[in-house]
Amino acid sequence: MTETRVRFLDLRAQYAGLRADIRRAVDAVFESQAFVLGPAVAAFEEALGRYLGAAHVVGVASGTDALYLALRACGVGPGDAVLTTPYSFAASATQIARTGARPYFGDIERDSFNLDVAGVRRWLVDECRREGGTLRAPDGEVVRAIVPVHLFGRPCAIAALTALAAEYGLAVVEDAAQAIGARAGGDGPYAGTVGRYGCFSFYPTKNLGGAGDGGCVVAASAADAGRVRSLARHGAAGGPYRHVELGIASRLDALQAAVLGVKLAHVDAWNAARRRHAERYEHLLAEVLGSPAVVAAPALVPGHVFHQYVVRVPERDRVRAALAAAGIETQVYYPIPLHLQPCFTALGYRTGDRPEAERAAAESLALPIYPELDDDAARAVVEALARALDRHRA
Ligand SMILES: Cc1ncc(COP(=O)(O)O)c(C=O)c1O
Repeated sequence: MTETRVRFLDLRAQYAGLRADIRRAVDAVFESQAFVLGPAVAAFEEALGRYLGAAHVVGVASGTDALYLALRACGVGPGDAVLTTPYSFAASATQIARTGARPYFGDIERDSFNLDVAGVRRWLVDECRREGGTLRAPDGEVVRAIVPVHLFGRPCAIAALTALAAEYGLAVVEDAAQAIGARAGGDGPYAGTVGRYGCFSFYPTKNLGGAGDGGCVVAASAADAGRVRSLARHGAAGGPYRHVELGIASRLDALQAAVLGVKLAHVDAWNAARRRHAERYEHLLAEVLGSPAVVAAPALVPGHVFHQYVVRVPERDRVRAALAAAGIETQVYYPIPLHLQPCFTALGYRTGDRPEAERAAAESLALPIYPELDDDAARAVVEALARALDRHRA
């Protein structure tokens, strides 16, 4: 059996430095016996709001529910259409379908892996049609919203997208699940705070991860936040046990909030460490592999928080197997673009319809990146990559 030399992620290394603080925070929840909502959740919502510069944060059970609830709160439902990226984790699109609406997929930009804004404009102009005050998608659904994703922690072109959405009267629901702390241009607004709603995941592997599932919705106004809270509490409003619409039960667990509250104080330092590793990878890739570049490294754009460090390599699956044989763990995000997922067969997309997403699915390889990764590990990864590509310069 191959000995693992570099793990893809090592959450134990993070916990080792936080053990005492986390246990104290978790103990306090047990002592209070307030496990659902209560002061721990309220304190975390407030702290996250302060961090993001956002007044309204609603803790929910997962990033997946955050997307569903935000879309529902925008009024999205059966007969509607929502445009999103074909290159993301499934939830970005499945939660559109969960509301009863139909997802439509744009394509991505080659460099950023994010939704191509020019393509969104072309779709709106060329493929949708206006009927009175209503914008209809190609199959007649009412176009309501756009779900851009800040993929891998890289801020997407949110200013251009919100301007375009405003032109067409559409809501923007940002999927910032992978991008806590990312900022447009490095010092602009935080990812997830620009659209009508921003959705975050606290899945353990995220840049801010809990000890289980968790998520939140950031809302642009108190009224918008109120809608999400109501939908997350079975559509309750206007008095005890009164339900004005069909909602779900989706709450951020108090134990998760306690853990997240401890970790939030470290997010900036962790994100800075991720960026340092990305810089080191870029340097090593140039030094070890030389040029012309057979490996396309992600650009170190300002504000990118490198949830993942995703390169493009030729013969990706062979290279990945060679790295595995050398004890280097990697991942593929994502091997099947969303428009070609079996669960979306009924939407009728075919291979070739979204060429950039399909190309990314064939070429992308995520290298280990996490704050505690050591520099020797990054060198071992790049040298193994060079050997796998047979391009190593001694
Ligand atoms: C881009 C994206 N959207 C949504 C989600 C869903 O979040 P969760 O796993 O917390 O439901 C994830 C994470 O897994 C994600 O990466």
